[in-house]
Amino acid sequence: MSRLVVVSNRVPAAGKGQQAGGLAVALLAALQKNGGLWLGWSGKSSGAHEPGPPEFRQEGKIAYALTDLSRKDIDEYYAGFANSVLWPLCHYRLDLTDYARKDMAGYFRVNRFFAHQLAPMIEPDDLVWVHDYHMIPMAAELRQMGVKNRLGFFLHIPWPPPDVFFALPVHETILRGLASYDVVGFQTQFDADNFAHCLVREGIGKALSDGWCEAYGRRFRVGVFPIGIDTAAFAAQAKKAIRTSELDRIAKSFVDRDLIVGVDRLDYSKGIPQRIEAFERFIDTNPAYRGRATLLQITPKSRSDVLNYAQIQREVAELAGRVNGALGSLDWVPIRYVNRSISQSVLAGIYRLGRVGLVTPMRDGMNLVAKEYVAAQDPENPGVLVLSRFAGAAREMNGALLVNPYDLDAVSNAIAQALSMSLESRKERWQRMMTHLLEHDISRWCGDFLDALGAGAEARRQAEDRRPAA
Ligand code: UDP
Ligand code: G6P
Repeated sequence: MSRLVVVSNRVPAAGKGQQAGGLAVALLAALQKNGGLWLGWSGKSSGAHEPGPPEFRQEGKIAYALTDLSRKDIDEYYAGFANSVLWPLCHYRLDLTDYARKDMAGYFRVNRFFAHQLAPMIEPDDLVWVHDYHMIPMAAELRQMGVKNRLGFFLHIPWPPPDVFFALPVHETILRGLASYDVVGFQTQFDADNFAHCLVREGIGKALSDGWCEAYGRRFRVGVFPIGIDTAAFAAQAKKAIRTSELDRIAKSFVDRDLIVGVDRLDYSKGIPQRIEAFERFIDTNPAYRGRATLLQITPKSRSDVLNYAQIQREVAELAGRVNGALGSLDWVPIRYVNRSISQSVLAGIYRLGRVGLVTPMRDGMNLVAKEYVAAQDPENPGVLVLSRFAGAAREMNGALLVNPYDLDAVSNAIAQALSMSLESRKERWQRMMTHLLEHDISRWCGDFLDALGAGAEARRQAEDRRPAA
């Protein structure tokens, strides 16, 4: 069997436990099963110096190769082009993009650097799987260096429609970068369609049959691979967590109160201010829940060096304070706001305590929290998932109450509906979602992508062999 080589910017720091963020959590679950090599950023800065060679670590079946980045690299590539241009653009927030040519140059420079680190580690039969918007140009760089391996790419975030994407000054270079892979995977059919429309709209490429596309003289496969979680393991973790003394203490602090749970990195795409306002609306319009319902919002800090993130951090803290001041009483804090990362083993138990999982991003590639919330429920007394229709997970979670997060009244009504739902309906909705999650777990996601990569690359090679020499 071919070795799997994974490349991503974020790698869970070996030995330091879980990282908040869907990519690292999901890939760790996938790689722990199959083993392989994982190359990425160490999360550390080499300051003004060029970073040295990668540091190697073996953890179980996974070999990590972790590389530092210079301060300039981090500013231009990570905080700059990746998180101040591609992230807001792909989340439909053109108003928050901050394009600068020097950041774009830094993005391509760092990708070349990663490609140079990776190339000598690759064996001829390895499958190379590159992840997310930080690393789009990797394949083009590797191909230029003569790497012939099968190269796959998976985008964890949404892909926007052409009118949004073409606002990016270097949109052609990004599309050319994607065309250098054998397989390009998206979370939902909407994303894959948006991508194909981008190719077709300006005559850059063609969408052929069976998911094949052609652009810049290359044929590659475009597929939809909705990412999953390790459902059975997560359910078992939640069941176990609930019996620990830590969860017992947390449960006691909510006794006689209905717990509504929100868990998100502190990111403007997650709709946290709108959610707090919807919760306030819910209490205002349902006075019976005054003193009885609590929103527990767990929100680790994220990308604090980027201006928009520093702003949202302040905004959420102020808003939670204002609502607590306005609504709270001497013995009731309406919103408990936790601004740090919580381990997944504790999170699993917290989800299980929550009568409502409130997952209301304004735009999200998938949203693993929605899936984790469902997996963590007690089958005999499950809670209700309230889910934004703009999360990729909404395409699959057909037992959730779907809401438009821009409509505060709708979110407020959904909370009320969730809290008053009969046990029978809750069980029926939960069962539908859980059956789906057990079937479409992280192993299936990984297997489906790798099958497509194996088959996709092989079919392309055969087609090239059949093509008459120019
Ligand atoms: N997470 C965590 N601790 C926290 C908050 C989040 O481990 O305090 C994990 C969460 O369990 C989930 C991931 O971070 O696995 C978030 O993934 P999601 O797809 O919901 O959003 P992303 O952060 O990737 O945009
Ligand atoms: C999202 C992105 C990932 C990223 C994660 C955490 O899930 O798709 O690529 O790793 O957020 O963000 P960070 O900037 O801390 O890596």
